[in-house]
Amino acid sequence: MVRFNRREFLAKTTATTAATAFGSATVSMVSAGEKPVKKLRIGVVGTGRRGPSQIRHLLADNKGVEIPAICDIDPQARARGVATVKQYGGNTPEAYGKDELDYRNMIARDDIDGVVVVTDVQWLGKISIDALKADKHVGCDVTGTHSLDECWQLVKAQEKSKGKYMLMENCCFGRETLLMYNMIRQGVFGDTYFGVGSYVHDCRHLYFKPNGELTWRGRLVRDDYGSIYPSHAIGSPAKWLGINDGDRMVSCSAVMTAPRGLHFYAVKKFGADSPQAKIEFKAGDISTTTINTAKGKNIRIDCGISSTRPYSRYYVMQGLKGCYDSRSGVYVNDGDQAAHAWSDQLIAKYADKYEHEYYRKDAATATKAGGHGGIDYFVVREFVEMARENKEPWIDAYDAAAWTSIMHLSRLSIDKGGAPVEIPDFTGGKWKDPNWRKGRMV
Ligand SMILES: NC(=O)c1ccc[n+]([C@@H]2O[C@H](COP(=O)([O-])OP(=O)(O)OC[C@H]3O[C@@H](n4cnc5c(N)ncnc54)[C@H](O)[C@@H]3O)[C@@H](O)[C@H]2O)c1
Repeated sequence: MVRFNRREFLAKTTATTAATAFGSATVSMVSAGEKPVKKLRIGVVGTGRRGPSQIRHLLADNKGVEIPAICDIDPQARARGVATVKQYGGNTPEAYGKDELDYRNMIARDDIDGVVVVTDVQWLGKISIDALKADKHVGCDVTGTHSLDECWQLVKAQEKSKGKYMLMENCCFGRETLLMYNMIRQGVFGDTYFGVGSYVHDCRHLYFKPNGELTWRGRLVRDDYGSIYPSHAIGSPAKWLGINDGDRMVSCSAVMTAPRGLHFYAVKKFGADSPQAKIEFKAGDISTTTINTAKGKNIRIDCGISSTRPYSRYYVMQGLKGCYDSRSGVYVNDGDQAAHAWSDQLIAKYADKYEHEYYRKDAATATKAGGHGGIDYFVVREFVEMARENKEPWIDAYDAAAWTSIMHLSRLSIDKGGAPVEIPDFTGGKWKDPNWRKGRMV
């Protein structure tokens, strides 16, 4: 049960009242000829590197969104959050963050409809669960939760809440991910049965603060291992293969290479005798997890955030009538000839006919808005629509729980030498109904 500190809350009354007055109308002003939009008031927790960029997308790319309050425990980040809201929203938001639980006072405000959570991964789940318990909408950045118990708590909180939760997995909004999703739904590839997803990103420069202390990413690779940042990899194949939408993941097996890259990096940066060189990092340089589904499909995910290589997310989707490989192209073969060559390079031939509506209509706007090539524009817009219309999200709490559970279950499998580990059914059997998520994505 979440307890809000009433005294602290009342101490902020003056500012809150001002903010309420600022956000009092329910319909936002728009230019002549435009349809009025319902006002949406969002609090943002975590205004470090990514938070301000999400604030910009919320305010600059969406009409009728206001940010009456932000929260960060780091004074510099907090100031950055306030300045970003001022720049794009025109108001000075109330700033919270006197300690790690001050976000609860922000969530308790009546003038906030929802929160966007962009903190260290170790806090994402706790804050989202508290916000759902307070009946607020939640847009949570990846990875969503930080323990198996939090996965369950998230699902239970969602089932009781009047608010809606969306995992803001931006990679699912990539152009090719949505194009393939569209083609699958229109039967181009036949039934899908195998997918690969990956997140390979050399993040070692983000593991240490300038004073040599570990950041949250550094603590993640020191304390956790397995597929520790899974959703960028698993999200697209899970959507292509209908996970939690007619099928579900039932078990996983994982292997991991020895953790060497980080030690190599720490020695080079801080010296062989430095305290950093003595840290025992647990996360292997690359981990591979193979997942079985109830319908006999497989997903493989590769996760490597400490390897010396350029950023790469590669994907494969295999269906009975063809396949997609992000490194080679699309192959569709409805006849009986042997498959010797990729018929088309990348997506050019199919884009005209099967381009997803989001890109057909708004590719230029998304690209101009920036943020990982446009995907942040779509993921933030999707959150805004969910919260404003009280709509069921495409990527919901069940997806967040299932996808993030791989972080914990891959570790258990590694501990057992790669033996299969059962994946819980977070949906409680709802996945069997192929219609329960109908209409959630255009
Ligand atoms: N989807 C993407 O493409 C993408 C890209 C980058 C980061 N992220 C995610 O965004 C989140 C933030 O990443 P970042 O790079 O901005 O990290 P960051 O360390 O720069 O920012 C995190 C901020 O959260 C604050 N914070 C931590 N605990 C808090 C608490 N209890 N209350 C209030 N503030 C708290 C910290 O002080 C910090 O300023 C992470 O979850 C990360 O996984 C996603």
